[in-house]
Amino acid sequence: MKKLLHIIATPREDESQTLRVSNAFLEAFTPAHHDWTLEELHLFKEALPPLTIERVDGKYVLLSGKDLPGNLKEAWDDIIGHINKFLSADGYLITAPMWNFSIPYVLKHYLDIIVQPKYLFRYTANGVEGLVKNRKMVIVTSRGGDYRSAETRAFDHQEPYLKTIFTFVGVEDIAFVNSQPMDASGPQVRDQKIETACALARSLGEKF
Ligand SMILES: Cc1cc2nc3c(=O)[nH]c(=O)nc-3n(C[C@H](O)[C@H](O)[C@H](O)COP(=O)(O)O)c2cc1C
Repeated sequence: MKKLLHIIATPREDESQTLRVSNAFLEAFTPAHHDWTLEELHLFKEALPPLTIERVDGKYVLLSGKDLPGNLKEAWDDIIGHINKFLSADGYLITAPMWNFSIPYVLKHYLDIIVQPKYLFRYTANGVEGLVKNRKMVIVTSRGGDYRSAETRAFDHQEPYLKTIFTFVGVEDIAFVNSQPMDASGPQVRDQKIETACALARSLGEKF
């Protein structure tokens, strides 16, 4: 069985405007992919390990090309657990509202934990090599405002950042479904934009 890991970075559960679109993706994905299982990682319900000095020290040991020394292994147990869960997936669905022009802090925390040398990327004579190969990813975002115009595009630090970090670790096939504006133009526009996003999400889910 293959596995789709659904990483959820909104605390709003049933009220979530982003999850409405991700659920449309899953409604189309599930019946079309009998050989896949679904695992959810709800970042607001996880006790993500803090990046203490030992955990950060470990990153520098790995960056120098050495293995983790025994005294850091225990501090790294949780990190390795999260890395293994991430790498055990064959595909990813990410649900992330825009928060302050970027991503919610729990998603940044998660990325700071899992994006580690030796596991998700490595340095080679030819530069950086991402190690998360042959995986597909759909990233569903929603935003209170609208960041598609020439004047507002530069404020969107969410899609460019997510594209950069996941490309850096080797994911080549990334599709975005952005719903916008969710809050700035009233409920009618919101519902219409969500419906359009759900249609795109359904078609991506079906042919994932
Ligand atoms: C802490 C916080 C920060 C936000 N920052 C922005 C922002 O910078 N730009 C924007 O357009 N919307 C912003 N919003 C609005 C959300 O992006 C929008 O309501 C989104 O649809 C919420 O998704 P959700 O219902 O799935 O949580 C913010 C919302 C919160 C709670």
